[in-house]
Amino acid sequence: MAAIDISHVSFAYKDHHQTDLVLRDVDLHIRDGEFVCIIGHSGCGKSTLLNLVAGLLLPDGGRVELSGRPIDGPGTDRAMVFQHYSLFPWMTAKNNVVFGIRQAKKTLKKNQALRLAQEYLQKVGMEQAGGKYPYQLSGGMQQRVAIARALAMDSPILLLDEPFGALDAKRRAELQQLLAELWDAGSRRKTVLFVTHDIDEALLLADRIVFMRPGKIEAELKVPYARPRLHEEISGAASYESLKAELLDLFYLDWELAADADFQ
Ligand SMILES: Nc1ncnc2c1ncn2[C@@H]1O[C@H](COP(=O)(O)OP(=O)(O)OP(=O)(O)O)[C@@H](O)[C@H]1O
Ligand SMILES: [Mg+2]
Repeated sequence: MAAIDISHVSFAYKDHHQTDLVLRDVDLHIRDGEFVCIIGHSGCGKSTLLNLVAGLLLPDGGRVELSGRPIDGPGTDRAMVFQHYSLFPWMTAKNNVVFGIRQAKKTLKKNQALRLAQEYLQKVGMEQAGGKYPYQLSGGMQQRVAIARALAMDSPILLLDEPFGALDAKRRAELQQLLAELWDAGSRRKTVLFVTHDIDEALLLADRIVFMRPGKIEAELKVPYARPRLHEEISGAASYESLKAELLDLFYLDWELAADADFQ
C-alpha cells in the first residue's frame, strides 16, 4: 500500500474576487519508504501540494490519504519544514526543537527532549545558538533550526519544502548527506516528499523525481543510482547527463510555453 496517495486532487484558493484552480486532477502515489523530489517553476503548485499532504489545506476534489486513511488535518506522523522556515518567535532555537520533539514523543521527559534537541542542533551545526531567539538568527540559521526540529521528531513521513534553499554550498552538501543518512537509518526508511529547485540535489537524494507544470504533474523520472550516493560518483555516470538534460528540457520548454502564452 502506498504511504501517500494523492488521487484526482483539485484545489483552489478562494478569495472575495476569484477562485483560481491551483491543482487540477493531480495523481501521485508514493510508496512507503520512498524518497520523492518535486521540481517545477515558481508558482506551479508545489507548496500547495505539500500543504495538502500536511493536512493544512483540504482538497476541493479527489482524495489525499496516508496508508488508506484520508488526511483531515495535521499530525505528528508528518514532520514539515516550511518554505518560510516558521519557528515560534517567542521560543529560543532549542525550545523550538524541544517543542517539536515533545509533540511527536509525548512520553519523553523534558530533560530527555532537551538532550535530543541539543543532539540535533549539533547535527545541523547550530549547537552554539540554542539559546538564541529566531530574530537573532540569520535566515539560513533559522532554516537549520527548523530542519533540526523536523528531523528530531523522527516522524515516519517528512515533508520538506526547499529545506536547503537559504544555505551556502558547503552547508547544503553536509545537510544533504545528513538527510540521506537519517532517511536510511533505523529499521524502516522514512517516506519523504521534498521540494527543490536544484536538479543536482534531486538527482542526489530522490528515488523518483516528479516535474510539475502549473496545476499538474507533467513527468516522472526514476533515479537509478545505488545508495549511499556521492555527487562526485553519480555525476560521472553516463546516465547522469541524460537525466539532467531531460529535466532541463522540461524546465526550458516551460519557459517557452509561458513566453508564448504571455504574447497571446
Ligand atoms: N494563500 C494563498 N492564497 C491565494 N493564492 C495562493 C496562496 N498560496 C499560493 N497561491 C497561489 O497558488 C499558486 C501556487 O502556489 P505555490 O505556493 O503552491 O507554488 P510553488 O510551486 O510552491 O512556488 P515556489 O517555487 O515559488 O515556492 C500560485 O499562483 C500562488 O500565487
Ligand atoms: Mg513553494
